[in-house]
Amino acid sequence: MYVIGIGKTKFGVTTQNLIQLAEEAINKAMVDSSFPSENIQAIYVSNFLGGILQNQLHLNSVISGLFPHRHLPIIRVETACASGGAAVHQALIAMNKFENILVLGVEKMTGYDSGVISKAIASAGDVERDQLPGLSFPASYAFIAQKYMEKYGATSDDLDLISLKAHYNATLNPSAHFQHKKIDLNTIKNSVMVSSPLRLFDCSPVSDGAAAIIISKKRHSKRDVEIIASSLKTDFISLTQREDFTCFPAAKLAAAEAYQQAKVSPSDINLAEVHDCFTIAEMVAMEDLGFCAPGESKEWIKMGRTALQGSLPINTDGGLKANGHPIGATGISQIYEIVTQLRGEAGSRQVKAAEIGLTHNVGGVGGTAAIHILKKINE
Ligand code: COA
Repeated sequence: MYVIGIGKTKFGVTTQNLIQLAEEAINKAMVDSSFPSENIQAIYVSNFLGGILQNQLHLNSVISGLFPHRHLPIIRVETACASGGAAVHQALIAMNKFENILVLGVEKMTGYDSGVISKAIASAGDVERDQLPGLSFPASYAFIAQKYMEKYGATSDDLDLISLKAHYNATLNPSAHFQHKKIDLNTIKNSVMVSSPLRLFDCSPVSDGAAAIIISKKRHSKRDVEIIASSLKTDFISLTQREDFTCFPAAKLAAAEAYQQAKVSPSDINLAEVHDCFTIAEMVAMEDLGFCAPGESKEWIKMGRTALQGSLPINTDGGLKANGHPIGATGISQIYEIVTQLRGEAGSRQVKAAEIGLTHNVGGVGGTAAIHILKKINE
């Protein structure tokens, strides 16, 4: 299977509504692919909060209106923050039936009171075990950070370096939420405490945005990128049901299956987009993906191995932290970045000699994990 077209809106605070964002990303993907939209046979739509925030469910039928008189099969996929990765996974399964599928991810999150937003995001957690006791997402990841620090001796200084890298990469990405902000270590260290030990600059922001990709069974141009693995796994959503708080079994299992499908090992990956909804999540992801041993990610970060010029650049677009996290769009945007890099079209953030890239998209605090591996086609 090949990604033959990609499109993405600017992530951040916008005046566009859900459908305007969706339309922009779809149009960009169509133009990028030079593919007639008549050839699209099905659409998968990733969205998490439309029902709660915009009272807009049945999004498949609304998106149908952008393709008048086509009556396409369109399905909405929702697995919280992993919705994008799950939608791509579902689309790939549906390639048994279709030749060309559009996958769209879209979210409108800004313009609401912070209490409304954090309650809406918390709906990804277990109602009885997490939501009613008042557990927010920042608090859940703060708990993971505390446990991780206790076990492996990591410190806030390590987390700060992840944030610094993310914000630097975002300044090189024209469509990133924080492209306009140059952030230094002092700003990160002195930012307001959200949920100890996580400060403002450990958190991904609340963003609007959309991203779209076109997947095809056949190659259409030299810019196409091959998808060589797709895996999705789940786990208990509530931390109260987990045994280990310093890794996500769903991500580990999905990664193992994806490496097996792609016939590659972690050391073959040249760059990765990982789900850094909070800085601690990037450290856990590096270990769950087998890039380094448990507890070792802090050393990699200190050595700059995951920076743009490092041996394994991670989150070259700024990651969720600084590219932004419009939840339904995130998993598709990660694939957008890997395809851009593998095509050699990433401009000043281009990774040299990138051949194989991985995306890691997580819903809840490790409740769902979708992994994709993509490969440059060498003629
Ligand atoms: N990182 C860095 N800066 C941020 C930021 C973040 N995560 N969130 C907001 N800001 C900045 C804004 O750009 C703004 O800067 P400006 O004054 O220069 O324009 C300033 O902080 C205030 O923004 P505001 O929107 O009022 O922030 P807030 O206090 O309402 O929200 C958080 C901050 C951390 C609570 C919010 O970003 C949040 O909830 N993040 C987590 C989202 C989440 O849980 N996603 C799902 C993960 S699985």
